[in-house]
Amino acid sequence: MNDLDARIAARPADFRVLTGDRPTGRLHLGHYFGTLANRVRLQRAGVELFVLVADYQVLTDRDVADRLEENVLGLVADHLAVGIDPATATIFTHSAVPALNQLMLPFLSLVTDGELRRNPTVKDEIQASRQTSVSGLMLTYPVHQAADILFCKANLVPVGRDQLPHLEITRTVARRFNERYAPVFPVPEALLSQAPSLLGTDGRKMSKSRGNAIELAATEDETARIITRAKTDADREIVYDPENRPEVSNLVLLAALCQERDPHAVAADIGSGGAAALKKTVIESVNEFLRPVRARRATYAADPEELHRILTEGNAYANTVAAQTLDEVRTAMGMPY
Ligand code: TRP
Repeated sequence: MNDLDARIAARPADFRVLTGDRPTGRLHLGHYFGTLANRVRLQRAGVELFVLVADYQVLTDRDVADRLEENVLGLVADHLAVGIDPATATIFTHSAVPALNQLMLPFLSLVTDGELRRNPTVKDEIQASRQTSVSGLMLTYPVHQAADILFCKANLVPVGRDQLPHLEITRTVARRFNERYAPVFPVPEALLSQAPSLLGTDGRKMSKSRGNAIELAATEDETARIITRAKTDADREIVYDPENRPEVSNLVLLAALCQERDPHAVAADIGSGGAAALKKTVIESVNEFLRPVRARRATYAADPEELHRILTEGNAYANTVAAQTLDEVRTAMGMPY
């Protein structure tokens, strides 16, 4: 247990967590082991949790967001299915919380255009985008993300490594606001997942757009199909050696995470069984692990009214919190009228 974990366990009420995802598709096992499991763990430890469905952020690398409502409700269903409890967590969307968005204005005045242009994650996204020009939102969304985090005064943000530059901007905004006006904001910390990162079935970053992701909501057959197609190598001896046998090791890791066992032990069980035995184990482990998640998800997906109700409630609470923070910000800035 590291220092931060110990502090969380000792005083969960001292922490407020905000995390977010873009509603661009369904969540997959990379999300689960990278961050969703952490969110559930934090909530169970007694930490107050805000889960943002970042609908405005979808507009950073595309002109029009399609199937938005379906993706938003799907994201809510994914969270409920993995065990986020809406009775104590707040699930909400950008677009329904005007006071959050208004914070972006003063925050933009606290960063320089050079700082925005240097952000390596934004640079990567600009490279990967098929758009011919870069929108103002693409360049400034990390500042919007600062508003996401600071509107509820979150002090802990569970994220993947790619998000660290954004969290640095949030910390800069919080510090500069506090120095220039009044101490309104905490300076939040990142919480990185301890689990080694899970790759897709082709050995590259797991991502829906690459067709290498196992979605939480996939059927057992779809899961079997995608794992059967996974890349392996010609060596029949199955070991966990991410350095020299990346594809095989990634499959071993996937089974190990699902079985909550050590990857070396999982590999030893398969021994010289080769890729076929490995894939059989992975398919069974994943499907067994996801069975209860999928059952819960199906129940929610069959009840869109309940999903809407949970989101409406989350949005209402987020609005109350955001209005309070915006009042403090306006007062600190000499705009109390
Ligand atoms: N930028 C994150 C992503 O692309 C999503 C996100 C939006 C987020 N706002 C956030 C993550 C606030 C953490 C905190 O995945």
